[in-house]
Amino acid sequence: MTQSNDNHTPKRLLATLRGEVQASPPFWMMRQAGRYLPEYRESRARAGGFLDLCYSPEFACEVTLQPLRRFGMDGAILFSDILVVPDGLGLDVSFVQGEGPKLVPIKSSADLPQLDETKFLGHLEPVYEAVSLIRDQVPPGTTVLGFAGAPWTVATYMIEGGSSRDFAKTKDWAYGQPDSFQQVIDLLVDATVLHLSAQIKAGVDAVQIFDSWAGVLPERAFRRWCIEPARKIVSRLKAEFPDVPVIGFPRGAGGLYSPYATETGVDAVSLDTCVSPGWACNSLPQTCVLQGNLDPRLVVVGGSAMLDEAKFILDAFVGRPFVFNLGHGFVPETPPENVAALSDAIRAWKS
Ligand code: CP3
Repeated sequence: MTQSNDNHTPKRLLATLRGEVQASPPFWMMRQAGRYLPEYRESRARAGGFLDLCYSPEFACEVTLQPLRRFGMDGAILFSDILVVPDGLGLDVSFVQGEGPKLVPIKSSADLPQLDETKFLGHLEPVYEAVSLIRDQVPPGTTVLGFAGAPWTVATYMIEGGSSRDFAKTKDWAYGQPDSFQQVIDLLVDATVLHLSAQIKAGVDAVQIFDSWAGVLPERAFRRWCIEPARKIVSRLKAEFPDVPVIGFPRGAGGLYSPYATETGVDAVSLDTCVSPGWACNSLPQTCVLQGNLDPRLVVVGGSAMLDEAKFILDAFVGRPFVFNLGHGFVPETPPENVAALSDAIRAWKS
């Protein structure tokens, strides 16, 4: 049974992730907590900064719950960031407002930190405390989602020292010295399994693995640096937590969504904006739950442009276990009233 701990309200999102088809699909939105909400901006200012928000269990819990109070999503995603993993490894991550994340870049495997399990989990303890608070405070029937970045995507930030346009340093390393690059990925596989296991023990119902930059790799590199690490992470999680669904998000993978869905062992895939819903329904295994994939720019525009496309997506996935979401996260200029209209339309839709 998929019931919350303290009452008998079914968790619709969790049931869908376990393969149930619902008459009206559950929904949550990537980056549903964030700068487009004035209450988020106020919490961030009170906490001091973005990482202070991530490492304060009370603030992280508060910010996680903010979008649910306004819009009633079926899922609450832990407020944190994929870069807490390199931070927990000692790589000293910082976020400069308006500039994005900054890290001291690693240049060779000699710069790789050791994974000291106790130190790593100790550093990230506030994140797991936030999960416990969220689990106790979400409205009944809400599914709590944990997450981590995929090794390839996290490696790009560690090697580029922040965001990048062309991933030149990361690609040169991966193509030029694959055995040494494998050590980076292996370290991140181990750290990701520790991080997701700790979130599950603290109370998340399901987890999502964000491979935001999967789409920049050609097929054979994608198989080695995206599919294979995801397969290892999923198999290690499933060995300990067989009932916890795993969602994979190989953003930009195109036709490679197919081997990703069949070979990694994920229960669900999150489709980016450019994936055709019809193609996904026909080409991805029936056993794979699908999630997606409204263009976040449509929620900036709102009105009939947004509502028509949302209806097209809802109609396209009829008959499959489906979770409505965006194809990528909300952008800061999204008007909250458009999110309210979208949420109402998803709830009102009938197949
Ligand atoms: O609501 C949620 O979705 C949960 C919170 C969440 C954040 N980041 C909060 C955040 C999640 C799931 C992430 C994942 C994340 N972080 C990804 C993968 C998803 C994606 O967007 O592709 C990536 C690549 C990151 C790394 C990251 N974090 C970057 C590049 C940036 C700067 C760019 C930007 O959007 O500002 C961040 C900062 C960040 N993470 C913010 C938020 C709300 C903005 C920080 C602020 O308040 O100024």
